[in-house]
Order: sequence, then C-alpha cells, then structure tokens
Amino acid sequence: MKICCIGAGYVGGPTMAMIAHKCADHTVTVVDLNQSRIDAWNSDTLPIYEPGLDAVVREARGKNLFFSTDVDTAIHEAEMIFISVNTPTKTYGVGAGRAADLRFIEKCARKIAEVSQGDKIVVEKSTLPVRTAESVKRILQANSKGRKFQILSNPEFLAEGTAIADLQNPDRVLIGGEQSPDGLLAIQKLVDVYANWVPREQIITTNLWSSELSKLTANAFLAQRISSINAISALCEATEANVDEVATAIGTDSRIGPKFLKSSVGFGGSCFQKDILNLVYLCQHFGLPEVANYWEGVITMNDYQKHRFARRVISTLFNTVSDKRIAVLGFAFKKDTNDTRESAAIYICEDLIKEHANLAIYDPKVTEVQIRQDLNVSVENPHVSVCEDAYTATEGAHAVLILTEWDEFKTLDYQRIYDQMQMPAFLFDGRNLLDLEALNRIGFEASGIGQG
Ligand code: NAD
Ligand code: UGA
Repeated sequence: MKICCIGAGYVGGPTMAMIAHKCADHTVTVVDLNQSRIDAWNSDTLPIYEPGLDAVVREARGKNLFFSTDVDTAIHEAEMIFISVNTPTKTYGVGAGRAADLRFIEKCARKIAEVSQGDKIVVEKSTLPVRTAESVKRILQANSKGRKFQILSNPEFLAEGTAIADLQNPDRVLIGGEQSPDGLLAIQKLVDVYANWVPREQIITTNLWSSELSKLTANAFLAQRISSINAISALCEATEANVDEVATAIGTDSRIGPKFLKSSVGFGGSCFQKDILNLVYLCQHFGLPEVANYWEGVITMNDYQKHRFARRVISTLFNTVSDKRIAVLGFAFKKDTNDTRESAAIYICEDLIKEHANLAIYDPKVTEVQIRQDLNVSVENPHVSVCEDAYTATEGAHAVLILTEWDEFKTLDYQRIYDQMQMPAFLFDGRNLLDLEALNRIGFEASGIGQG
C-alpha cells in the first residue's frame, strides 16, 4: 500500500519512519510545505532530536520512506493519507485562547478533495476536538465527484524524548472509525498496518467520537496528575512534608500508580495546555460550565507553579535579582528533546528578566537562536547570555536554577560550580533531580520543589 502523511513534524516524522521501518511492503511518503524541514529530514541532521530516530530513518529512507514537498503527487498516489499537521490554540476570533485552530486541517481536507482521483482512507493523526471527523467528511463528500472517502481517527500517544520507544512498543494503538461496512473495512486496513509489530490485543478499535475524545481525555488526565502533585508541593513547603516522599507513598497504591507524580516547575510541551484548553472550550460549547471549570483548574495550577518558582527565587535572593547573574540549567520542556514549546523555563526566565536579572542559560540541546526567539531577546540584550556549558553559565552566579531534568546535570562537579559562585551560593532544583543534602554539605543553600 502507498501511504502519505501530511505534516513532517514531531509526530508525522517519527510515526511514519516507524511504519516504514516495520512494514517493508508499504511505501510511506511524508510531505510538508516547509522546504527547510523536508531538506533536514533528507539530510544527516534531522529537524528534531529524538533518541533512536536517526537509526530508524537511516534504515528506511530512500527504500520505502520518502520526504518531499510535492504534496499533490503524494496524495494522488496514496491509498491511505495521514493528516499530522499542527492544531494550535486559536489566537483570533471566536474561541481565541481556547479553541483548536483547525485551519491547517481544513486545508488538508480540501487539498485531498482537490487532488484525489480514486477512493482514499483519510486518517486523523493530529489531536482534534471531538467531532472534527464530521467536518473533514463533509468537506470531502461535498467535493467527492463519485470518489469514496473513509475517515479514521488514530490519535498519537507518543511522548517526546521517548518517541521511538513509545512507537516501537506502545501501550495501545487507538483506531476509531465509522461503524458501517466500509468504515469497518477501513479500520481493518489500518489495524493490519500496526499489526506488523503491535500485538492485536493492544490495538483498540472504537467509534470515531470515542477515539477523538480519548486523546484529549488522556492528555487531560496526565496533566491533571502533575497539577495535583504540584498543588501538594506547595502544601509540603508550608508544612515540612516532602513531596517526593508523598508521591512514593501514594504511588504504591496500585489504584493510583507511580507514574506522572514527579513534582516540577510545571508541565510544558506543545500539547497538554493546548489540549486542555480545547477540552475546556468544548465543554463550554456543549453547555457544561462546571466540567469546563474543573479542567481549567489544571491549567490554573500549572501557571501558579511556574510563577511560584520564580517568586521563590526572587524572595530567597533577598527580594531582588536586579543585576544578579542567575545560571539557568535546562531550557527544553523536558529532557532528551530540543523542543521548547510552552517550556516552563520560558515563563520563569521571563519573570526574572522583568526583575532585571542577568540570565546565563545553558541547555545541552536547545540552540541559542531558539532560546533568544522564545524569550524575544536579541544578542545585544545585556540580560541574557547563552552559554556553551554548565560551568560557564554558573561562573560568578548568585544562583543556579535547574529547570530541565537532563541526566548530565546529575553528574556535574558541584564543588567546582560552588567554588566559582557568589556567596551565599543558592541552588534551586526545579526538578528534584539532585541530592540536596550533599549540595548543602558543599556549602550551597540548596532547595527543591515541595521540600519543607
Ligand atoms: P509540528 O508543528 O511539529 O508539525 C506539523 C507540520 O505540519 C509542520 O511541519 C507544518 O509545516 C506542517 N503543515 C501544516 N499545514 C500543512 C499543510 N497544509 N500541508 C503540508 N504540511 C503542513 O506539530 P507536531 O508536534 O508534529 O503535532 C502534530 C499534531 O500531533 C498536533 O495535533 C499535536 O497535538 C499532535 N500530537 C503531538 C505530539 C507531540 O509530542 N508533539 C504527540 C501526540 C500528538
Ligand atoms: C505528552 C503525553 O505524555 C503523550 O502521551 C502525548 O502523546 C503528548 O503529550 C501529546 O499529545 O503531545 P510530552 O508532552 O511529549 O507527551 O511529554 P511528557 O512526558 O508527557 O511531559 C510533559 C510535561 O510534563 C513535561 O514538561 C514534563 O517535564 C512534565 N512532567 C511529566 C512533570 O512535571 N512531572 C511528571 O511526573 C511527568
């Protein structure tokens, strides 16, 4: 089968590389309007950093995996078309700040209708509001000229930094489709693709709306756990309880489970906030204000946690960070990715810049260009410098902030860092990554999240 995927981003690239890698019989072409992104996919420096991705791409590229900007040809030739374009929060008009902006999805649907000459299976891979498939279907059918289109929902659950492992060994694959003979046939075709490497019992099939809604719900539940433990972290700081100990204690209850209970500077990433806002908007749209308010609380708590961390840094540093050098270690929204979208580090840095701090930022994978773009500061800005390593960033610093849980921060020479800092040497571990007692023995005034 010929497969096409529209959108060569964090999801389209790795998922299609995995399908090509696992299904030698299928030819997969990933298309995008962004020429430089496609060039990067065809080069030795892929556009995204993801452990294990290089090997998977290298193995399949040029054989049964292709990256191209020729959207029309790829759609025309394919029997199955994945739509994996971005679905950001709308910034204008009705629903601004909440609703999903579906203009890229609609453009894809119209393009498919325009270019297709035969029947197609169209697969929603992007995360979408429940009932989007209905709109996609109406656009396609209104322009069908006798061709038949089946719409499937196949949301993606991979997390960045572990995308390849998640794709290789997913907890489940979810496929929703119309419960008609043609719909069930289309579902079966997609099941057959995944069944090349995913055990059949882990491939869940549902109706379209359950599948679409399950994706938003999964992200809302995951984010809710983080906001819940972060809420408790504030209480821990007020009561001398330790949030990691609380997390371990409750996580051993098999009904709660241990995952996603790590207290932090707040969740980031391109999806949690956008998907919850989308859920909130949908609830409001369907006249369910109590449900909307319930989920909105997850975002409110996350915002609180980010600003609370910055406020604590400022108050600990004698209520002023003006002209003080603050070393920021980690800028990505989590370890093992170069993605900074909605990273908590952005908000914390912004709060500190407003207080005229001088930030010295180091991240192992995020480029200086990206950091400056996110903070909206030019190279001339005296308040932000981007450093080559953690030791340069911490030289002469009044405080060190750990904002991403990169493994390399665990093994830094903290004695060396302490020796080159201003005294008292403050360290704020926003990820509860380090041994605070050991740091305090060196002489640091070290604190973590949710620890008395
Ligand atoms: P992304 O921004 O990295 O990639 C989207 C790509 O689509 C871009 O390269 C863009 O140029 C391209 N595009 C947009 N409109 C196009 C068009 N009309 N024709 C051709 N190309 C077009 O986004 P992403 O992170 O890959 O996310 C894609 C979807 O997957 C979103 O709905 C997101 O919510 C969802 N998702 C993301 C993740 C994640 O970890 N990033 C995980 C699960 C689901
Ligand atoms: C998340 C989900 O985990 C994926 O299942 C989903 O497919 C994806 O969103 C999506 O739809 O985009 P991702 O955002 O890549 O994946 O990464 P996560 O591991 O979920 O981390 C998100 C944020 O929460 C990060 O900032 C991370 O540091 C933070 N986090 C995570 C915590 O603060 N504590 C935790 O215990 C776990």
